[in-house]
Amino acid sequence: MLIVIEQVLDADEVRVFNDLLSAAAWVDGAPTAGSRSVAVKQNLQLDRADPVSVELGQIILRKLGQHPVFVSASMAEKIWPPVFNCYRDGGHYGTHVDSALMRLPEAGLTIRSDLSATLFLSEPEGYAGGELVIEEQYGAQAVKLAAGDMVLYPSSSLHQVTPVTQGERVCAIMWMQSAIADAAARSMLFELDQSIQSLSAGRAKDDPDVDRLIHVYHNLVRRWARV
Ligand code: NI
Repeated sequence: MLIVIEQVLDADEVRVFNDLLSAAAWVDGAPTAGSRSVAVKQNLQLDRADPVSVELGQIILRKLGQHPVFVSASMAEKIWPPVFNCYRDGGHYGTHVDSALMRLPEAGLTIRSDLSATLFLSEPEGYAGGELVIEEQYGAQAVKLAAGDMVLYPSSSLHQVTPVTQGERVCAIMWMQSAIADAAARSMLFELDQSIQSLSAGRAKDDPDVDRLIHVYHNLVRRWARV
C-alpha cells in the first residue's frame, strides 16, 4: 500500500531546506548503491556527514515523530537517517529493490527495511520526468508530489525514478523498520486506527463502542508487534 503524508514540511520549511540544499556540496550518488544497483543509479547525493544533511535530517525526523498519520501508518521503530539526493540532466535510478538489511556501523544502527519513504522537496512543475514509479500488487503507480509531501511504500517493492529531463528534482529518502513487520497487518492496523480517529471525533469521550475498538486495536498491536 502506498500512503501519502501531506505537509511533512510547510512552505516556509521547504524554502529554508531548498536554500540550504542549493548551496550544498553534492557528490556522485552511485558509490552508495549496491553492486547491482550501481549500474542503474545516476544522481547526486549529499554525504551523510555533511552538516547540511545532518541538520536537515534531524528536522525531518523530529517532524515525522510528531506527525500522527506517519506514526500510525509506519509504526516505525528505527529510521535510517534521511539521505538527500538530486536528479538533473537526465539523472535517474532504474528499477531496483532496496536492501533488506541496512547497517550504519558508525551509529551502531542496523535496520530491516520494511518501509521506504521519499519526501519531495522540489515543486513538481519545476522539473520534467522524475516520477517515482512503484510496482505494486495491482500494477505500477507513478508518484510525483508537491514539495513538502512524502510517500511511504513497501521496501519490498520494485521501484525506479524516471529520468529528469528538465529542471531539478531534490528529495530526501529514508527507510524504516516497523514494529509491525507484516505489511498486511500494518495496513489493517492503520485503517482501524484511522476509523477510530474519525468515529471518536463525533462521540463522547467515554463512548463504550469507541473504547472497545481502541481495546481491539491495542490488543492486535500487542499480538503482532516485534520490538
Ligand atoms: Ni530505492
